[in-house]
Amino acid sequence: MRIPKPYRHPNAASGCHDTPVFTHTAAVAAEALRAGQLVALPTETVYGLGADATNADALARLYAVKGRPTDHPSIVHVADVEEARAGWASAWPESAELLAEAFWPGPLTIILPAGARPDPAALGDTGTVALRVPDCDLTREAIRLSGTGIAAPSANRFGRVSPTTAQHVLDDLGTDVDLILDGGPCSVGVESTIVDLTGPAPRVLRPGAITAQMLETALGTTLSTSLETAPRAPGTLAAHYAPRLTVVLVDDIASAIAKTETRIALVADASDPRLSPVPAQIVALLDTGTSSESYAERLYALLREADDSGANSIVAVLPPPGVVGDAVRDRLTRAAAGA
Ligand code: TXA
Ligand code: MG
Repeated sequence: MRIPKPYRHPNAASGCHDTPVFTHTAAVAAEALRAGQLVALPTETVYGLGADATNADALARLYAVKGRPTDHPSIVHVADVEEARAGWASAWPESAELLAEAFWPGPLTIILPAGARPDPAALGDTGTVALRVPDCDLTREAIRLSGTGIAAPSANRFGRVSPTTAQHVLDDLGTDVDLILDGGPCSVGVESTIVDLTGPAPRVLRPGAITAQMLETALGTTLSTSLETAPRAPGTLAAHYAPRLTVVLVDDIASAIAKTETRIALVADASDPRLSPVPAQIVALLDTGTSSESYAERLYALLREADDSGANSIVAVLPPPGVVGDAVRDRLTRAAAGA
């Protein structure tokens, strides 16, 4: 999300104000981060649960709250490209420069050999660091004012659906989070593309809004598709991003309508004429909009709504492959693999 400066939260006019949990002010978030607190931060993809990436105590708490095994690395978020080059990684190859120039700030995470600055607790003993400059002015300002890099996994409990609003974070983490920087809903909606630059050829570890083809164009080279020596990445586990209900995937609305299960929450383009009237077995119709982009933006909120709808199961119509559709298909496939 791009927030015009000077920053003014859209709710400000209607009496929105900071609370002990929510803030709309980058400086307040930065101060809490410097003090070693856990601060949820908005990004264009999903909300992250942030901690100072140089503070071992803060990182220990981050992993405990997230419920994440300590050997799983976290992405280190930095304020800008210059900061990314400043000791977080031990090398800054030409390929990193090209990708940073083309896609930062933006939904791309770059894995490099680790430098001296990140605490090893942020890196899960990988010896590598994942760096990202998020495309959210408010969060980049908070990171800049904190004077450090911020380790931030998605602000959900391990294995569950990622949060795309400040309220989702509060629903998931409650008082385990010290502060939530509220930047409104996330615009991309699915996590960043992760590209690993530590191997013989660049390789995508997680699809996102930046596609392999976009990376190849920026790099002028072909990506490796070998996953043989792929590093451990929980976001690439078969079962991840899971709502509470069972998820069943279908390729089109006709197959969804043909389902004989009772009490279905259907995730689909609600403007499709075959859904009016809504078939009786569908107790909740969760609208993806007509594009893969709108599907991605709404995906996690829709899965949360489905969980709360009183349905017995979720049926999701997959978006077509290509662009961000691939990332949505990836996340839904993992959600369907179960918790
Ligand atoms: O869009 C995003 O990437 C969001 C926002 C908050 O920036 N973050 C996010 O973090 O999705 P998380 O922790 O939920 O997923 C990050 C993925 C994990 O699968 C992790 O294993 C992988 O990145 N990862 C982080 N550091 C890594 C490293 N050094 N080597 C390999 N994989 C790494
Ligand atoms: Mg995650």
